[in-house]
Amino acid sequence: MTTATTEALRLTERINRIEPSATMAVVAEADKLRQQGIDVVDFGAGEPHFATPQHIKDAGIAAIQGNFTKYTAVAGTAELRDAIAHRHHVDFDSDYRREEVIASTGGKHALFNAIQVLVDHGDEVILPVPYWVSFKDIIRYAGGNCVLLESDETQGFRVTAEMVAQLITPRTKAIILNSPSNPSGAVMSPEDMTEVIRLAHQRGIWVLSDECYVYLNYTGKNFSVGSLREYKERMVVLGSLSKTYAMTGWRMGFVLGPAAVVAGINKLQSHTTSNPTSITQKAAIEALRGPQESVAIMLAEYRRRRDYVIGRLRKMPGVKAQEPRGAFYAYPNVSAAFQKGISSSLEFSEKLLAEEHVAVVPGEAFGTAEHIRLSYATSMKELERGLDRIERFIKARV
Ligand SMILES: Cc1ncc(COP(=O)(O)O)c(C=O)c1O
Repeated sequence: MTTATTEALRLTERINRIEPSATMAVVAEADKLRQQGIDVVDFGAGEPHFATPQHIKDAGIAAIQGNFTKYTAVAGTAELRDAIAHRHHVDFDSDYRREEVIASTGGKHALFNAIQVLVDHGDEVILPVPYWVSFKDIIRYAGGNCVLLESDETQGFRVTAEMVAQLITPRTKAIILNSPSNPSGAVMSPEDMTEVIRLAHQRGIWVLSDECYVYLNYTGKNFSVGSLREYKERMVVLGSLSKTYAMTGWRMGFVLGPAAVVAGINKLQSHTTSNPTSITQKAAIEALRGPQESVAIMLAEYRRRRDYVIGRLRKMPGVKAQEPRGAFYAYPNVSAAFQKGISSSLEFSEKLLAEEHVAVVPGEAFGTAEHIRLSYATSMKELERGLDRIERFIKARV
């Protein structure tokens, strides 16, 4: 390549700061094998295999038939923003007003926008490990520095205010919370969460709480930081309809936060995507205001699968599996199988895919080196098949 062409192809410094999503990379690799006719069991993708509930689909269809197919307000219609605030109020006793709500094209988009609005070059953002892969790259893209908060697996990856306090510096701008957590399924107790919020409030630090799995909680205590009304002024709640209502492809997420933050996001969104899809907005209103039974039905199914997966994993030689208390991921420690040509989770995952055709995400994607993430948002039959293969793979090594 000539120097002139290399020069022309040079991408920005900011895009070179980030890496492609590791979870997406696994999906792509599994797809490649599938195209070759190989029977792959896929535990990689973090998405419900349930269909979107019928009444929600019907609302989307009615939106198309009724020609609700034009631009709307950038933040979403007033009806949608009110429905988001209403659902949150009913479920978590929060008190967000319309101007404190903005709808975006999925939870990831909502998070990206919020970080762009709050994190400046050189700002530090405290990020508990293991972390969802996109947090790190979105923070870096904004010019922020991630300060990793290591947690102890044997304590269920617990994060406490004391642990957070030790990492605060004059440059600390925000802390990310994600309970229930992707990838570990850990759930913070309302008490621990309240202590962290109180500390952040005292120290003038923003809390960005990603609550995309807030309804997928097996402890019976769904908790949103939005219920702590007295700390609202430094708090941003990130929500998504993707997992709650099996709506991943519709793309609907939201931010609840101070009006000034919402206005900043509105400005950014007005120059990028504009409003989330009008049809999706109508479906989302139905999801939020309509019957909620499907959420409990799906949760019960996920619980059944979680119990099966954890039971199976714990019977495998050397595997240590914490019980996930939320979300739909298992995050077992498989380091006992790091032998016979395997020395990391990445190598474990690559060999598992190549030899047994099971796709999982290596822990390195989430900041730990001894784990793999399995999504159990799939059918029991797939779980049985995949776990049989993982068991065979591990038994051949341990
Ligand atoms: C922790 C977390 N936050 C946000 C999202 C974003 O979901 P979506 O963009 O589909 O709403 C995901 C999806 O996997 C997630 O795991």
